[in-house]
Amino acid sequence: MDKYIITGGSPLKGRVCISGAKNAAVAIIPAAILAGDVCRIENLPNISDVAVIARILQELGAEVTRANASTLIIDPRRINTFIARRELVSNMRASYYLLGALLGRWGKARVPMPGGCYFGIRPIDQHLKGFETLGAVAGVENGMIHLDAERLTGGHIYLDVVSVGATINIVLAAVKARGLTVLENAAREPHIVDLANFLNSMGADISGAGTDVIKIRGVESLRGTTYSIIPDQIEAGTYMAAAVAAGGDVVIENVTPKHLESITLKLRDLGAEIDEYDDSIRVRRTEPIKRTNVKTLPHPGFPTDMQPQISALCAVGSGTSIVTEGVWDNRFQYVDELRKMGVKATVDGKIAIFEGVPKLSGAPVAATDLRAGAAMIIAALMADGVTEIEQIRYIERGYENVVDKLRGLGADIKRISDYKDDAYAQNHA
Ligand code: EPU
Repeated sequence: MDKYIITGGSPLKGRVCISGAKNAAVAIIPAAILAGDVCRIENLPNISDVAVIARILQELGAEVTRANASTLIIDPRRINTFIARRELVSNMRASYYLLGALLGRWGKARVPMPGGCYFGIRPIDQHLKGFETLGAVAGVENGMIHLDAERLTGGHIYLDVVSVGATINIVLAAVKARGLTVLENAAREPHIVDLANFLNSMGADISGAGTDVIKIRGVESLRGTTYSIIPDQIEAGTYMAAAVAAGGDVVIENVTPKHLESITLKLRDLGAEIDEYDDSIRVRRTEPIKRTNVKTLPHPGFPTDMQPQISALCAVGSGTSIVTEGVWDNRFQYVDELRKMGVKATVDGKIAIFEGVPKLSGAPVAATDLRAGAAMIIAALMADGVTEIEQIRYIERGYENVVDKLRGLGADIKRISDYKDDAYAQNHA
């Protein structure tokens, strides 16, 4: 099995450049299905989730070419089906954006139930409620979600739960529907604004993205576009947390500091010194890590996708820290892995209490999901001795070149490959 081997104790110093946002990329690539012409999408992260969603579009008939490591050119005109095949789709959660995109294009969609990281039950009832309000009939047969609409027509939708995925899916389905759609209690994450900007650059009429009321006036057609996606807020936050963990002085480049505000404030509570510039941020730590309390919430609250990374820091804080998960039912599975490194924590449902310990010790651990994997890296950077992290395919779904980026900052990290995971890598290239 492939592994990362990390020897802790080296402070991080230097500059690291953040890639494009994964969760924007996996929405914007399927959104290209709605275009009537070629889309050029720039600043994409070079990660396996992007490769998989691009491959799915190819399977649907789109012509997808890679202009360079971070740019895809997608010609969706030859897409000739509304049916997505099971093999690739069941690998990733974001494949559910095919529902909104195919429904918006064809008035029909057949998409297998999505896969992805498991943090408890991940329902899609709010997505389906939105599609039904727009006039689609939804059902599930043999593990495939079926959507059929005579003609999509705008409507008034109130989300019972603030959902990123439902917000994006409803925007995708409504963008070419007849008339006005009003979506209330919408999610406000930066990647929702990015998706709306992408669609508007193709001629869509979407306003209010980034607030909790989004209005979508349907248009007849969408043209092709050239678009560069936003920097990855969570990748940036992860390197900020890594800099705090290891100590040192790191400048994180190609970021939008406004998107990082809740992370910046929490890391300052933990003792970091942070300076914000136009599109970069400098993170230093010279004092011991302090304690804090954190509760994750939808944007602009503290992001759930930074919860494991901040918990790794709380684990060595000077006192007791309480971390409350406000988005997912079951996002503390990784704590068992951290315990192998000497972390003292109790978990009760959606609350974890960390009794800060002075030092962690290296151990063999596994990445139980993408962000849990990031937490293992952060813990390993501060631990005494060597940590081996298995199941790194989760990490590589969402972090571009994490080994090279950390080595560039002076971390002692290497990747060990074997045949089995090489086969995995080839399947997902
Ligand atoms: N929910 C429902 N019904 C629905 C949809 C969601 O009850 O129809 C609930 C979920 O069970 C959860 C909450 O609403 O408790 C929020 O879920 P949301 O729909 O916002 O999550 P998602 O769209 O499936 C995206 C990200 C996740 C991130 C969450 C929350 C993508 C591809 N995934 O998931 O990212 O944790 O939003 O911000 O954008 C990650 O990148 O590591 C990751 C898991």
